[in-house]
Amino acid sequence: MASTAEAGTEGYDSQWVEHWKQGVPPGQLWDAGKPSPYLAHLLDSKQLDVAGKRVLVPGCGRGYDVFAFAQAGAAPAVGLDLSPEAVAAAAAERDSQLAHSPEVAARAELVAGSFFEYVHASGRPFDVGFDYTFLCALHPDMRKDWAAGWARLLAPGAELVTIIFPVGPGFVGNPPWQVSPELYEELLLPAGFEQTELTQIPPHLSHKGRGGREWLGRWRRVDSSSNGNGSGTDGAAGDASTHSSSTAVSRM
Ligand SMILES: C[S@@+](CC[C@H](N)C(=O)[O-])C[C@H]1O[C@@H](n2cnc3c(N)ncnc32)[C@H](O)[C@@H]1O
Repeated sequence: MASTAEAGTEGYDSQWVEHWKQGVPPGQLWDAGKPSPYLAHLLDSKQLDVAGKRVLVPGCGRGYDVFAFAQAGAAPAVGLDLSPEAVAAAAAERDSQLAHSPEVAARAELVAGSFFEYVHASGRPFDVGFDYTFLCALHPDMRKDWAAGWARLLAPGAELVTIIFPVGPGFVGNPPWQVSPELYEELLLPAGFEQTELTQIPPHLSHKGRGGREWLGRWRRVDSSSNGNGSGTDGAAGDASTHSSSTAVSRM
Protein backbone atom coordinates (compact mmCIF):
# COMPACT_ATOMS: atom_id res chain seq x y z
CA MET A 1 0.00 0.00 0.00
CA ALA A 2 1.30 3.46 -0.86
CA SER A 3 2.35 5.56 2.10
CA THR A 4 0.59 8.86 2.70
CA ALA A 5 3.68 10.65 1.42
CA GLU A 6 3.36 8.88 -1.92
CA ALA A 7 -0.39 9.36 -2.09
CA GLY A 8 -0.16 13.13 -1.47
CA THR A 9 -3.02 15.06 0.09
CA GLU A 10 -5.61 13.28 -2.02
CA GLY A 11 -7.75 11.33 0.41
CA TYR A 12 -5.81 12.51 3.43
CA ASP A 13 -8.40 14.13 5.69
CA SER A 14 -10.86 11.28 5.77
CA GLN A 15 -8.38 8.99 7.52
CA TRP A 16 -9.00 11.04 10.67
CA VAL A 17 -12.74 10.86 10.29
CA GLU A 18 -12.44 7.09 9.75
CA HIS A 19 -10.22 6.62 12.80
CA TRP A 20 -12.75 8.41 14.99
CA LYS A 21 -15.65 6.47 13.45
CA GLN A 22 -13.86 3.25 14.35
CA GLY A 23 -13.28 4.59 17.85
CA VAL A 24 -10.32 6.15 19.64
CA PRO A 25 -10.48 4.91 23.25
CA PRO A 26 -8.97 7.17 25.90
CA GLY A 27 -5.27 6.38 26.24
CA GLN A 28 -5.00 4.72 22.81
CA LEU A 29 -3.24 5.87 19.63
CA TRP A 30 -2.58 9.61 20.06
CA ASP A 31 -5.04 10.07 22.94
CA ALA A 32 -3.00 10.52 26.13
CA GLY A 33 -6.03 10.70 28.42
CA LYS A 34 -5.08 14.06 29.94
CA PRO A 35 -3.81 17.52 28.98
CA SER A 36 -0.23 18.06 27.90
CA PRO A 37 1.89 18.15 31.09
CA TYR A 38 3.83 21.11 29.73
CA LEU A 39 0.66 23.04 28.96
CA ALA A 40 -0.52 22.34 32.53
CA HIS A 41 2.85 23.62 33.77
CA LEU A 42 2.61 26.83 31.70
CA LEU A 43 -0.93 27.51 32.93
CA ASP A 44 -0.29 26.61 36.59
CA SER A 45 2.85 28.75 36.73
CA LYS A 46 1.10 31.63 34.90
CA GLN A 47 3.87 31.67 32.33
CA LEU A 48 0.85 31.51 30.06
CA ASP A 49 -2.02 33.64 31.37
CA VAL A 50 -5.23 33.10 29.42
CA ALA A 51 -7.76 34.66 31.80
CA GLY A 52 -10.46 36.28 29.70
CA LYS A 53 -8.65 35.42 26.47
CA ARG A 54 -10.09 33.83 23.37
CA VAL A 55 -8.20 30.56 22.80
CA LEU A 56 -8.28 28.19 19.83
CA VAL A 57 -7.12 24.54 19.93
CA PRO A 58 -7.35 22.93 16.47
CA GLY A 59 -7.23 19.15 16.11
CA CYS A 60 -8.48 18.98 19.69
CA GLY A 61 -9.45 15.31 19.70
CA ARG A 62 -11.07 14.48 23.02
CA GLY A 63 -10.46 18.03 24.21
CA TYR A 64 -8.22 17.61 27.27
CA ASP A 65 -6.15 20.70 26.38
CA VAL A 66 -9.30 22.74 25.68
CA PHE A 67 -10.64 22.00 29.16
CA ALA A 68 -7.30 22.97 30.73
CA PHE A 69 -7.60 26.35 29.01
CA ALA A 70 -11.22 26.78 30.14
CA GLN A 71 -10.23 25.93 33.72
CA ALA A 72 -7.47 28.54 33.49
CA GLY A 73 -10.07 31.19 32.61
CA ALA A 74 -10.05 31.28 28.80
CA ALA A 75 -13.29 32.70 27.45
CA PRO A 76 -14.00 30.98 25.23
CA ALA A 77 -11.67 28.02 24.86
CA VAL A 78 -12.61 26.63 21.46
CA GLY A 79 -11.76 23.07 20.48
CA LEU A 80 -11.98 22.39 16.75
CA ASP A 81 -11.78 18.99 15.11
CA LEU A 82 -12.43 17.72 11.63
CA SER A 83 -14.27 14.69 12.97
CA PRO A 84 -17.83 15.00 14.34
CA GLU A 85 -17.14 11.81 16.34
CA ALA A 86 -14.12 13.47 17.96
CA VAL A 87 -16.26 16.45 18.90
CA ALA A 88 -18.93 14.14 20.34
CA ALA A 89 -16.25 12.34 22.38
CA ALA A 90 -14.91 15.71 23.58
CA ALA A 91 -18.40 16.86 24.56
CA ALA A 92 -18.90 13.67 26.60
CA GLU A 93 -15.50 14.22 28.25
CA ARG A 94 -16.38 17.84 29.05
CA ASP A 95 -19.74 16.89 30.51
CA SER A 96 -18.12 14.28 32.73
CA GLN A 97 -14.95 16.16 33.69
CA LEU A 98 -16.62 19.52 34.27
CA ALA A 99 -19.95 18.28 35.64
CA HIS A 100 -19.40 20.23 38.84
CA SER A 101 -18.15 23.39 37.13
CA PRO A 102 -20.93 24.41 34.75
CA GLU A 103 -19.52 27.92 34.30
CA VAL A 104 -16.19 26.43 33.16
CA ALA A 105 -17.95 23.92 30.91
CA ALA A 106 -19.90 26.77 29.32
CA ARG A 107 -16.64 28.45 28.30
CA ALA A 108 -15.41 25.30 26.51
CA GLU A 109 -16.85 25.38 22.99
CA LEU A 110 -16.48 22.37 20.72
CA VAL A 111 -16.83 22.65 16.96
CA ALA A 112 -16.63 20.18 14.08
CA GLY A 113 -14.86 21.54 11.01
CA SER A 114 -11.59 22.00 9.17
CA PHE A 115 -8.97 24.40 10.45
CA PHE A 116 -8.42 25.55 6.88
CA GLU A 117 -11.94 26.95 6.55
CA TYR A 118 -12.81 27.73 10.15
CA VAL A 119 -13.98 31.12 11.42
CA HIS A 120 -15.42 31.55 14.93
CA ALA A 121 -19.19 32.11 15.02
CA SER A 122 -18.56 35.61 16.38
CA GLY A 123 -16.33 36.40 13.41
CA ARG A 124 -13.66 37.54 15.87
CA PRO A 125 -10.02 36.44 15.77
CA PHE A 126 -8.35 34.65 18.68
CA ASP A 127 -5.92 36.00 21.30
CA VAL A 128 -4.11 32.70 21.80
CA GLY A 129 -3.63 29.65 19.59
CA PHE A 130 -2.39 26.32 20.90
CA ASP A 131 -0.89 23.83 18.48
CA TYR A 132 0.08 20.40 19.77
CA THR A 133 -0.15 17.18 17.85
CA PHE A 134 -1.79 19.20 15.08
CA LEU A 135 0.95 20.19 12.61
CA CYS A 136 2.34 16.66 12.88
CA ALA A 137 -1.11 15.34 11.96
CA LEU A 138 -1.23 17.28 8.69
CA HIS A 139 0.22 16.16 5.39
CA PRO A 140 3.52 17.97 4.65
CA ASP A 141 1.90 19.57 1.59
CA MET A 142 -0.57 21.33 3.92
CA ARG A 143 2.07 23.07 6.02
CA LYS A 144 2.15 26.44 4.29
CA ASP A 145 -1.63 26.60 4.53
CA TRP A 146 -1.33 25.70 8.23
CA ALA A 147 0.87 28.77 8.81
CA ALA A 148 -1.45 30.96 6.74
CA GLY A 149 -4.40 29.57 8.71
CA TRP A 150 -2.85 30.65 12.01
CA ALA A 151 -2.11 34.11 10.59
CA ARG A 152 -5.74 34.37 9.50
CA LEU A 153 -7.26 33.17 12.78
CA LEU A 154 -5.12 35.09 15.29
CA ALA A 155 -5.44 38.80 16.00
CA PRO A 156 -2.43 41.05 15.44
CA GLY A 157 -0.30 40.81 18.58
CA ALA A 158 -1.88 37.47 19.53
CA GLU A 159 0.21 34.55 20.72
CA LEU A 160 0.68 31.15 19.13
CA VAL A 161 1.94 28.52 21.58
CA THR A 162 3.33 25.43 19.89
CA ILE A 163 4.52 22.20 21.40
CA ILE A 164 6.79 20.94 18.66
CA PHE A 165 6.48 17.15 18.47
CA PRO A 166 7.76 14.65 17.37
CA VAL A 167 11.30 15.98 17.06
CA GLY A 168 13.91 13.42 16.03
CA PRO A 169 14.09 10.47 13.68
CA GLY A 170 11.59 7.72 13.20
CA PHE A 171 8.42 9.38 11.97
CA VAL A 172 8.31 9.24 8.19
CA GLY A 173 5.55 8.54 5.69
CA ASN A 174 2.55 8.69 8.01
CA PRO A 175 1.29 10.81 10.90
CA PRO A 176 2.68 11.80 13.27
CA TRP A 177 5.02 13.41 10.76
CA GLN A 178 8.46 14.30 12.03
CA VAL A 179 8.85 18.03 12.73
CA SER A 180 11.56 20.31 14.12
CA PRO A 181 11.96 23.78 15.62
CA GLU A 182 13.58 24.84 12.33
CA LEU A 183 10.50 23.71 10.39
CA TYR A 184 8.25 25.87 12.57
CA GLU A 185 10.56 28.85 11.97
CA GLU A 186 10.54 28.24 8.22
CA LEU A 187 6.75 28.17 8.21
CA LEU A 188 5.79 30.83 10.75
CA LEU A 189 8.31 33.62 10.21
CA PRO A 190 7.29 34.26 6.56
CA ALA A 191 3.63 33.99 7.58
CA GLY A 192 3.90 37.02 9.85
CA PHE A 193 5.02 35.65 13.23
CA GLU A 194 8.05 36.43 15.34
CA GLN A 195 9.55 33.93 17.76
CA THR A 196 9.47 34.90 21.42
CA GLU A 197 10.72 31.65 22.97
CA LEU A 198 12.20 28.33 21.94
CA THR A 199 13.02 25.80 24.67
CA GLN A 200 13.44 22.06 24.84
CA ILE A 201 10.83 20.62 27.17
CA PRO A 202 12.24 18.68 30.14
CA PRO A 203 11.34 14.98 29.65
CA HIS A 204 9.40 14.76 32.93
CA LEU A 205 6.99 17.41 31.59
CA SER A 206 6.01 15.37 28.52
CA HIS A 207 3.42 12.65 28.15
CA LYS A 208 4.80 9.17 28.83
CA GLY A 209 6.84 7.98 25.87
CA ARG A 210 7.32 11.47 24.38
CA GLY A 211 10.09 12.75 26.68
CA GLY A 212 13.04 14.37 24.90
CA ARG A 213 11.09 14.77 21.66
CA GLU A 214 9.17 17.96 22.53
CA TRP A 215 10.10 21.63 22.26
CA LEU A 216 8.15 24.69 23.25
CA GLY A 217 7.91 27.40 20.59
CA ARG A 218 6.14 30.66 21.39
CA TRP A 219 5.31 33.10 18.60
CA ARG A 220 3.71 36.50 18.31
CA ARG A 221 1.50 37.46 15.40
CA VAL A 222 3.14 40.61 14.13
CA ASP A 223 0.88 43.63 13.97
CA SER A 224 1.22 44.52 10.30
CA SER A 225 -0.59 47.83 10.79
CA SER A 226 2.16 49.08 13.11
CA ASN A 227 5.32 48.10 11.18
CA GLY A 228 4.29 47.42 7.62
CA ASN A 229 5.78 43.93 7.87
CA GLY A 230 2.65 41.86 7.62
CA SER A 231 2.23 38.28 6.72
CA GLY A 232 0.73 38.79 3.32
CA THR A 233 -1.28 35.68 4.10
CA ASP A 234 -4.36 37.09 5.77
CA GLY A 235 -7.56 35.60 4.53
CA ALA A 236 -5.87 32.60 2.95
CA ALA A 237 -8.33 29.75 3.15
CA GLY A 238 -5.68 27.09 2.69
CA ASP A 239 -6.16 23.56 1.45
CA ALA A 240 -9.78 22.79 2.11
CA SER A 241 -9.76 19.53 0.22
CA THR A 242 -11.52 16.49 1.61
CA HIS A 243 -10.09 13.11 0.85
CA SER A 244 -10.26 9.42 1.56
CA SER A 245 -7.36 7.29 2.71
CA SER A 246 -6.65 4.24 4.82
CA THR A 247 -3.34 5.49 6.15
CA ALA A 248 -2.12 4.16 9.47
CA VAL A 249 -1.45 6.53 12.34
CA SER A 250 1.50 5.48 14.46
CA ARG A 251 1.10 5.33 18.21
CA MET A 252 2.42 8.57 19.70
C1 LIG B 1 -2.98 13.33 16.30
S1 LIG B 1 -4.64 13.75 16.64
C2 LIG B 1 -4.43 14.74 18.12
C3 LIG B 1 -5.68 14.97 18.92
C4 LIG B 1 -5.50 15.74 20.24
N1 LIG B 1 -4.82 16.99 20.01
C5 LIG B 1 -4.76 14.90 21.24
O1 LIG B 1 -3.57 15.15 21.47
O2 LIG B 1 -5.37 13.97 21.79
C6 LIG B 1 -4.96 14.97 15.41
C7 LIG B 1 -6.38 15.46 15.40
O3 LIG B 1 -6.49 16.46 14.38
C8 LIG B 1 -7.74 16.33 13.73
N2 LIG B 1 -7.59 16.97 12.41
C9 LIG B 1 -6.89 16.52 11.35
N3 LIG B 1 -6.97 17.40 10.34
C10 LIG B 1 -7.72 18.44 10.77
C11 LIG B 1 -8.16 19.66 10.19
N4 LIG B 1 -7.84 19.99 8.93
N5 LIG B 1 -8.91 20.51 10.93
C12 LIG B 1 -9.25 20.18 12.22
N6 LIG B 1 -8.88 19.03 12.81
C13 LIG B 1 -8.12 18.16 12.10
C14 LIG B 1 -7.97 14.82 13.70
O4 LIG B 1 -9.33 14.47 13.54
C15 LIG B 1 -7.40 14.39 15.07
O5 LIG B 1 -8.40 14.35 16.07
